[in-house]
Amino acid sequence: MSSVLRVSVLFILVHSVFSMDSNDLFFKKYYSSSVSGLVKLLKMEQEFMENFSVYANILQKKVDNLNIFLDALKRPNHNTHNEREKFVSNPLNAFGLIRRLNQDWPKWQNYTQKQQGLGQLNAMQDIVSAAPESFDMNEKLKAMHRIETTYDLQPKDIAKGVLQSTEFNYKLTWRDCLALAHHKFKIGEFQRSLLWFQEALNINPNGSLEIINKLQEMQLKNFATDVAKRSIYLSNQALTNETNSQLQDAKTKELEQLISSNLKRWIKDSSTTPLTDHNIGCRGLFPRKTNLVCRYNSSTNAFLKLAPLKMEEISRDPYIVMFHEVISDKEIEEMKGDIREMENGWTGLEDPKEIVSSVYWIREETSFSKRINQRISDMTGFKLEEFVAIQLANFGVGGYFKPHFDYYTERLRGVDANNTLGDRIASIIFYAGEVSQGGQTVFPDLKVVVEPKRGNALFWFNKLDDSSPDPRSLHSVCPVIVGSRWSGDYQVAALRSPVICEALQPTSS
Ligand SMILES: *[C@@H]1O[C@H](CO)[C@@H](O)[C@H](O)[C@H]1NC(C)=O
Ligand SMILES: *[C@@H]1O[C@H](CO)[C@@H](O)[C@H](O)[C@H]1NC(C)=O
Ligand SMILES: *[C@@H]1O[C@H](CO)[C@@H](O)[C@H](O)[C@H]1NC(C)=O
Ligand SMILES: *[C@@H]1O[C@H](CO)[C@@H](O)[C@H](O)[C@H]1NC(C)=O
Ligand SMILES: *[C@@H]1O[C@H](CO)[C@@H](O)[C@H](O)[C@H]1NC(C)=O
Ligand SMILES: *[C@@H]1O[C@H](CO)[C@@H](O)[C@H](O)[C@H]1NC(C)=O
Repeated sequence: MSSVLRVSVLFILVHSVFSMDSNDLFFKKYYSSSVSGLVKLLKMEQEFMENFSVYANILQKKVDNLNIFLDALKRPNHNTHNEREKFVSNPLNAFGLIRRLNQDWPKWQNYTQKQQGLGQLNAMQDIVSAAPESFDMNEKLKAMHRIETTYDLQPKDIAKGVLQSTEFNYKLTWRDCLALAHHKFKIGEFQRSLLWFQEALNINPNGSLEIINKLQEMQLKNFATDVAKRSIYLSNQALTNETNSQLQDAKTKELEQLISSNLKRWIKDSSTTPLTDHNIGCRGLFPRKTNLVCRYNSSTNAFLKLAPLKMEEISRDPYIVMFHEVISDKEIEEMKGDIREMENGWTGLEDPKEIVSSVYWIREETSFSKRINQRISDMTGFKLEEFVAIQLANFGVGGYFKPHFDYYTERLRGVDANNTLGDRIASIIFYAGEVSQGGQTVFPDLKVVVEPKRGNALFWFNKLDDSSPDPRSLHSVCPVIVGSRWSGDYQVAALRSPVICEALQPTSS
């Protein structure tokens, strides 16, 4: 067996390790972590709306019927005893009265009790029971925060639908802004919390309906209560029932005042997001590399002499190249067609682990995977003799990946103890999604950033010539701002034999 492995290149998957964890969190399905999950939610909302609207029509019909009956009964009021006596003294009135009470009213009373739209009610109940829970909600708040801080976006721009320099035809509502303000408060970002709160105040909450007013009031009160708790805690006291009931009785203006004034007081305690190389890269602020070239690469095999690959040098040392247009739209659709149930994808190995994508592993050999393996051979010059598993990942909006290495860290070695094939020498990422903003791959130490252009593939080495890890291969994924980031990830592993590693090095022509 090992002689086969010697000459083969095995592709293994990132972070399969987590699927072994017994924690519920690891298996539960979340909507927030991928665009495909969000698409499901949108469908759910549409179904809910359809049922809701059918149900509202059914109720409307019932109300119409009740009104028709009431209209038919219209007669002058009989307010005094004499008037009533006169009315029932007429035999026609007396007969009608008894007949109605005996025959009509029980029917109408029964009609009011009749449950209607049960099918819709049940359908809505099913939909609501599958609705995102607070974990999903919190993940989305974190994702919004990540986009805001990584790219240094301003709440006033986001609120009116401006993301970076692109303006979208969507604005945040009062409740959206308040939820964001509350979240920033909870994570100690008082400065941003205040900015978001001010955005909320700028928006007319449009509470003409009592039920909507109630919801808004409750949301404001919850926020104000948390702010009051912190304020009281800082003064070494506890929230008393008295303060609590004062809060419950407070007017909207008072609550707003309480929140604003405290947030202003605490701005100096705000935690801030450090400006890392990852963030600088995501913002597009790395200096441009100038001495690199693009060329057609046809040197790896005879086939490529006929159909050369467009190769762009991203970095010469360490060797990073981008192959342009190596996977077609048709192949991408074919690849997605192979997907069945997706699993949770994670930000990285370090805590806190966050779910930021959905992943699916193509483990069986398909005509698609065979073709892709051949293409990897063409691109890299590696001979692939064993089936290669492909990890497909779909990131959610705000989805990202922390800076990490693909070669074995101590931690990975521990969980991947049964792998006899050795370390991950090189990595390939196929970009298979439309991402118009964000989602770049960043090499923070090299100050290199790569756009996730659909159809391209990025290739780099994780090891040096002497097969020791190359820490410059540290890489990360910027939060997706707009788009659906699909990627196919390959981790190239081989025996840690210097001979093989040498063979895997690019020729220096
Ligand atoms: C209501 O919900 C059910 C189940 O989710 C769905 O099949 C149906 O199409 C929905 N729409 C209507 C109008 O009932
Ligand atoms: C109400 O109507 C249902 C059928 O619609 C019937 O089964 C039930 O007996 C009625 N109840 C009364 C009190 O009339
Ligand atoms: C709420 O919004 C609706 C539609 O946008 C508008 O017609 C209505 O006047 C608004 N109400 C208030 C109180 O602003
Ligand atoms: C505060 O309210 C809670 C619940 O309403 C009650 O159990 C508790 O005894 C009250 N505490 C005081 C000090 O009144
Ligand atoms: C390694 O393989 C053994 C035997 O097949 C198995 O019991 C163990 O759980 C595996 N360990 C890991 C980390 O996969
Ligand atoms: C073509 O690509 C292979 C594999 O990446 C590399 O070894 C070789 O140096 C490249 N050839 C040229 C001319 O760049």
